[in-house]
Amino acid sequence: MDVIVRATTQDAVKLTARLMADELRKQPDMVFGLATGRTMEAVYAELARMHREEGLNFTHAKSFNLDEYIGLAGDDVNSYRYYMNKHLFNNINIRPENTFLPDGTAANPDREGRRYDEAINNAGGVTLQLLGIGRDGHIGFNEPGSSLRSRTRAVCLTPETYEQNSPLFARREDMPMRAFTMGVGTILESQKILMLVTGDEKAEILAAAVEGPLTAMVSGSAVQLHNDAVVIVDEAAGRLLKHRAYYDFSFQADPRWAAYR
Ligand code: GLP
Repeated sequence: MDVIVRATTQDAVKLTARLMADELRKQPDMVFGLATGRTMEAVYAELARMHREEGLNFTHAKSFNLDEYIGLAGDDVNSYRYYMNKHLFNNINIRPENTFLPDGTAANPDREGRRYDEAINNAGGVTLQLLGIGRDGHIGFNEPGSSLRSRTRAVCLTPETYEQNSPLFARREDMPMRAFTMGVGTILESQKILMLVTGDEKAEILAAAVEGPLTAMVSGSAVQLHNDAVVIVDEAAGRLLKHRAYYDFSFQADPRWAAYR
């Protein structure tokens, strides 16, 4: 696991977008695993800029999102499908039929979870999985207690997630308390993981995920199990990291990062 602390949120966002773009240039038919949330809006804006100004080409790429609220159809302004269309898909040249999210309106949740995992496998698996982290440590919507081997499935959200996400709904009470999420096990099958965490309010949970014990009670700690995970944070989110000096040293000294310093 590499941890990279950048001075500003914008630097952290730019590095994340650049790593995604470089992967796409290397492998134009790659499969992105994508995340939602406020943190990712700037990453998607930067990818859209690269598409517009630098010709970054998504025509052959596919994407699978981590999660979707149960009960919301894709045209609902609060659905993650709507978020993705608005912040990314409408602004780049990915083919809409190559973008996938769990179907929040699926009649049979068990079947929908299995179908989604199969669709990921049929696409050859996720090449690069983008992750944020929730204040309760969730990745996707894997709330505390999610098995580290869990698969895509329907879950109940925590009161903390309700506090975090309901202000994004016009009427807070409209936020569904259930969602489909890729499982932690599903996420760990991706070839690479890129986790982006920014802002002071994430400092504690970031330190728990990256430097605390591996535990199902902090799903984000599962990045410790992955053998190609990069965690990119800004100064504010990284302020509680104990091994900060080492992370800075390896970013400067490791030739893999020479082009990104
Ligand atoms: C949301 C998403 C997560 C995301 C997290 C962080 O609930 N399900 O995939 O990483 O919460 O959101 P934000 O960036 O708004 O803090």
